[in-house]
Amino acid sequence: MKKIISVVGARPNFMKVAPIHRAFLKYKDKVNHLICHTGQHYDEKMSKVFFEDLEMPHPDFYLGVGSGSHAEQTAKVMIEFEKILLAEKPELIIVVGDVNSTIACTLVASKLNIKTAHVEAGLRSFDRTMPEEINRLLTDAISDYLFVSEESGLINLKKEGVDENKIFFVGNVMIDSLIHHLAKSESSNVLKEFDLEPGKFVLVTLHRPSNVDSEDFAKELLHLFNTISEKRKILFPVHPRTKKNFFNFGFKAENDRILLTDPIGYIDFLSLTKNAELIITDSGGIQEESTYLGVQCITVRDNTERPVTVSAGTNHLVGTDLKEVKNVALNILNGNKKKGKIPHLWDGKTAQRIAEILVKKIT
Ligand code: UD1
Repeated sequence: MKKIISVVGARPNFMKVAPIHRAFLKYKDKVNHLICHTGQHYDEKMSKVFFEDLEMPHPDFYLGVGSGSHAEQTAKVMIEFEKILLAEKPELIIVVGDVNSTIACTLVASKLNIKTAHVEAGLRSFDRTMPEEINRLLTDAISDYLFVSEESGLINLKKEGVDENKIFFVGNVMIDSLIHHLAKSESSNVLKEFDLEPGKFVLVTLHRPSNVDSEDFAKELLHLFNTISEKRKILFPVHPRTKKNFFNFGFKAENDRILLTDPIGYIDFLSLTKNAELIITDSGGIQEESTYLGVQCITVRDNTERPVTVSAGTNHLVGTDLKEVKNVALNILNGNKKKGKIPHLWDGKTAQRIAEILVKKIT
């Protein structure tokens, strides 16, 4: 029996590991698949609710590292994860995405000569001021198996001179979760709860430090919300970092068509994504989920590491000038919508492909 440990740390990781765990159940006679939660995200609404919604088992290991500076958080994960690896001696670890837990655990495993697989490899924003870009570059540089979600990932890894035998184009594992839970999201009450009409509201999420640490951005956002709310209701689930900053900047809803709320669980958020007329976000994952669902998405960033969502999907990469965001948003709400298509291999079977490849490699 071979042991594999998958790592989750922050909110966007949970929906990527859930289908991988399910896929390995098919090989239970050969592989013991365990889950390690670093505790990078720890609030009930940022973490626990996702385990419940995604029907994931309790993590086998919980490192409880919590918040801190990048160095502190990364270092704490490394110290605690090394203890787990020394005690458990797994054959392989699996990391997903680009958060601090991803690079921290990859680095530890690699120094202990334990094989590592990176799911969502090869994505590049080419913006090294983003901590996630550093995490992506370093994780890919030392991982043994690189699972790629879109064609740009293949191109980037080849350009970086990565051995082609390490690279596998398998599709998007997060879309596996979306497809698996879509039917369940139909029975969510979240639209009723906020009194929202399907296809007639704007959903907003913003959490990138480059946006939400700026007081000017918060003020501009208020103007944008006031303008959009004349046409549509706005629902804005507020990330803890955004809440802390915006509270200090005096940000508040100035009319009853602007709805601010706590972070929302996976199933309810899926229902909101599917039914929104427009999403305004700086998240990575939401660019992909909206593309799969054919929902218009404005990305409030200057770059994206997921370019297929712009070239094939319904994502509009607009930049961080909120006046420009307003122009594009009003244009979309006036009916000028982009038609998109679903990228190659975003078919709900990515985790099965990953499990099949890894089982062959290690057994
Ligand atoms: C992290 C990831 C980012 C991902 C995002 C999704 C890194 C470098 N960044 O950013 O890629 O898109 O998660 O949410 O790994 N906090 C809480 N409760 C929690 C978690 C965090 O209150 O459960 C607070 C922390 O105290 C901190 C802030 O939120 O002040 C930021 O948390 P952190 O995990 O450092 O980074 P994120 O901005 O969430």
